[in-house]
Amino acid sequence: MTAPAAAEHPGERIYKHLCLNCHQPTGNGLPGIYPPIVGSEWVARDKSVLIRMLLHGLRGPVTVAGKTFNNLMPPSGLSDRQIADVLTYVRSHFGHQSSAITAEEVQLPRKTDRERKDSGRSLVLEHIFRNRVRQRLGGFHHAEQGQDDQEVREVIRREQA
Ligand code: HEC
Repeated sequence: MTAPAAAEHPGERIYKHLCLNCHQPTGNGLPGIYPPIVGSEWVARDKSVLIRMLLHGLRGPVTVAGKTFNNLMPPSGLSDRQIADVLTYVRSHFGHQSSAITAEEVQLPRKTDRERKDSGRSLVLEHIFRNRVRQRLGGFHHAEQGQDDQEVREVIRREQA
């Protein structure tokens, strides 16, 4: 008798069906087009930013593992549970060892963002911006970010006007 195959992580199925098309089976993305999951600070750090990227999608310049991408990811259209599962999966695979995300943790940003008037995009930008400021304060810095931050600030200003 052969041992039963290890149960697939529920997030793995979602990754294979949805994320893999762009971020690739290896999670390395495609240079200049799709950013990597491997080595991504966005996967490892602030949960609420990561959750919002899947709720609202992401567009415009973003620096991932030292490289800048300027493309578009559509909103995932996934449920709270599915977002929790796929993010828990990526945070514990592709070389990451970050904590799990629960469906409850997805529920809150989904609800608060719905109640706010501004678009998901500006919310994601705002969080990215705050995250960057935090990184700065923590001494994390590299050259391209100065320009990025200015653009982020500009978009937030425009969207809030
Ligand atoms: C249609 C292609 C596409 C699909 C499908 C897609 N992404 Fe993305 N993703 C992108 C692009 C492009 C960006 C960068 C957007 C930008 O330049 O602003 C991105 C950015 C990200 C980021 C932040 C940067 C990084 O690489 O860490 C994460 C995390 C992420 N995606 C996770 C996912 C997950 C999880 C899924 C599946 C639920 C998924 N993506 C599905 C194209 C895609």
